[in-house]
Amino acid sequence: MQAVLWRRYGPPQCLTLGEAPLPKPGPGEIRIRIHATTVTSGDARLRGCRAAGLFWLPIRLAFGLFRPRHPVPGMEFAGEVEALGAGVAKFALGQRVFGLAPRGAHAEYLVMPARGCVAAQPRGLSHAEAAALPFGGLTALLFLRDVARVAPGERILVHGAAGAVGVAVVQLARHFGLTVTAVAGARHAPLLRSLGAAHVLDRATQDFRESATPYNLVLDTVGGTDFRQVRHVLTLRGRHVVMNYGARELALMLATHLRPGPRILCGYAGGSQADLRQLRELVEAGALRPVIGHRMPLSDIVAAHALVDSGRKQGALVLEITPAGCPHPA
Ligand SMILES: NC(=O)c1ccc[n+]([C@@H]2O[C@H](COP(=O)([O-])OP(=O)(O)OC[C@H]3O[C@@H](n4cnc5c(N)ncnc54)[C@H](OP(=O)(O)O)[C@@H]3O)[C@@H](O)[C@H]2O)c1
Repeated sequence: MQAVLWRRYGPPQCLTLGEAPLPKPGPGEIRIRIHATTVTSGDARLRGCRAAGLFWLPIRLAFGLFRPRHPVPGMEFAGEVEALGAGVAKFALGQRVFGLAPRGAHAEYLVMPARGCVAAQPRGLSHAEAAALPFGGLTALLFLRDVARVAPGERILVHGAAGAVGVAVVQLARHFGLTVTAVAGARHAPLLRSLGAAHVLDRATQDFRESATPYNLVLDTVGGTDFRQVRHVLTLRGRHVVMNYGARELALMLATHLRPGPRILCGYAGGSQADLRQLRELVEAGALRPVIGHRMPLSDIVAAHALVDSGRKQGALVLEITPAGCPHPA
């Protein structure tokens, strides 16, 4: 099968398009014919083994100490179930599914456990739209629901609001009854208003720290905010939620838990089948829609990673996969 091959940690050029063996589903596994996948900030980080402080160590232990242990990268996918391993009853052949795999999604076929992070696609979406949802959607859901534990009526400021995670945070925060202020480059303002942001601040010209009304939450997807400054725009029990953190933020999280006043919260977004089903319900209820900023064929994998590395991505970058030899869809 056609697949992206990843033989070493490094720049986008360390990825190539090539051939990989067709994976076979074992007992309890399904094989998915992938129609669309994405390059996320997580894929780019793994490719280069980029992490704050000593966090590169767990990456290398999980993905290969000296070089990637598994040659096919890629996490987010949408496609249809093409083969069932023994004992799989919860999926049917031909069923349209979407989800997040630990690796292997940048290929024509993916094998994963039927109990993994995979579920039926929301009704009415194309494969490309379904593929654009899990990474940002699950991260937003888990951080708002489980890390920040948001409540209706709260005011949230979302820093880095136009990326794959940010566009989902804006929509879900609004759905959970929060008033959203989005901070992003000026070009993203119309999109962010259409997603439900009550206010949009241009990050180049406006300083959110000058806000006259305090926020209950400042959620930073990109890592450009500092707790020492953010605490002055937070309410007494306000939370500074950071998705990109190192040892300093973890130490501050502990320290701010031990004393009264605003707190800093860090977390890690996994994703279960139940969370994916909740995401599907949110989409079908009209509370969340996919945002695709860029579409490319799988063969543009190097350019796709370079774009993600630039840090200027809007929403999801979708790679469409057509069988080898077929023209890329318009
Ligand atoms: N902890 C976890 O479990 C977890 C899970 C998922 C993601 N994350 C982290 O979340 C971060 C965001 O992920 P993503 O996939 O949404 O990224 P992304 O799609 O690449 O988007 C990044 C966005 O941030 C904006 N931006 C760049 N620099 C900025 C700055 N200094 N201040 C404000 N905005 C800035 C960019 O737009 P403009 O420059 O045009 O404004 C872009 O839209 C990543 O660093 C990732 O590691 C963490």
